[in-house]
Amino acid sequence: MTQNLGKMNIPAARIYFSEEDRKEVLARIDESLRTGQLTLGKFGRQFEQEFAKYVGVKHAIAVNSGTSALEVPLRAWGVEGHSVVVPTNTFMATALAVWHAGADVIFADCDESLCMDPASLESAIRDDTKAVVFVHIGGVVPPQIERIAEICRRRNVLLLEDSAHAHGSTFNGRAAGTFGQAAAFSFYPTKLMTSGEGGMIVTNDAKLDEQARVFRDQGKAGFLGNVHTEMGYNWRMSEPHAAIGITHLARLNSFIAERRLIARLYDEALADVPHIERLVVPEGSASNYYKYVAFLEPGIDRAQLKKRLREEHSVSMSGEVYEMPLHLQPVVEKMNGPGTGRYPVAEDLCRRQVCLPVYPNMTEAEAGYVVDSLRKVLA
Ligand SMILES: Cc1ncc(COP(=O)(O)O)c(C=O)c1O
Repeated sequence: MTQNLGKMNIPAARIYFSEEDRKEVLARIDESLRTGQLTLGKFGRQFEQEFAKYVGVKHAIAVNSGTSALEVPLRAWGVEGHSVVVPTNTFMATALAVWHAGADVIFADCDESLCMDPASLESAIRDDTKAVVFVHIGGVVPPQIERIAEICRRRNVLLLEDSAHAHGSTFNGRAAGTFGQAAAFSFYPTKLMTSGEGGMIVTNDAKLDEQARVFRDQGKAGFLGNVHTEMGYNWRMSEPHAAIGITHLARLNSFIAERRLIARLYDEALADVPHIERLVVPEGSASNYYKYVAFLEPGIDRAQLKKRLREEHSVSMSGEVYEMPLHLQPVVEKMNGPGTGRYPVAEDLCRRQVCLPVYPNMTEAEAGYVVDSLRKVLA
């Protein structure tokens, strides 16, 4: 890979809409403004249909965030008063959705893929456990997803895939979002594709499809009536958000291809950089490279490394997945007491990981500059 490049400025993320795409979005928003159809309209329905087709499921229900897309199925399944198993290595939203749906969170540890370890799940499931939330960390659908689904079937608990990172990722050709009874996607700006804010529930279950539409609209039995049958909330997606999402969904495959190209360059170039090892994507998994994860040797000060990359080379690393497991977060320790030592694999891997910047439109030269900067700082 290229050496001695001039100084570049590498941001942690870049959100991209071509001029053509911006025009397309604006034309749809203009139509929404002209017709006054600003929520639960034709663009929302189009986005749902196209997303369901992309994932390969029967139903998709658009909501206003990835967090809502987690909470709605959990509420529809009636987890209140029960427990739900969640990996400790995830974003706080995964656990918050469970708590807000009225259930207890039980944490499980991860394995070297950064995703939930099936053995830890087995021992976490209690008699009152109603569901498991599995997170495809960094965009990898790891091989253990099949074992996780089998454990859930055997123990009679529902499986919800938190696919916030995993748009378009597959395991043995099967898409993230098709292994459980439902899945939740996020369209937050830094995700693989965005609608500004937004989320999507996907499922093959016609009953859940119906229930989710009721829950997302204040628990109202029908759009036009005023009869409320469930404890819903305002989880609706607006038409301007759907207008953005439709355009980015059409670009998703090319975004993934561009990220994979950069990941391949990183794979090769990192091989001879000391004190750092890439996360090896397991056989059969096709990552969308939402994150390009690597692990530092024990003892390397990550905060100092990132500071030097930023200040000396203008390279901003991307956010970790995750910097700190949930059981060690102050708000969780306040509830559960000190957590250190409970989930040792997550604690170790969270402490040592870094995420190299990766996005569509990143050039080969930029990727080379990132690795050269890392090599210099780690030398
Ligand atoms: C793993 C995970 N779950 C849930 C969410 C929540 O998504 P949102 O920010 O769209 O509510 C995110 C991202 O932000 C996430 O990374």
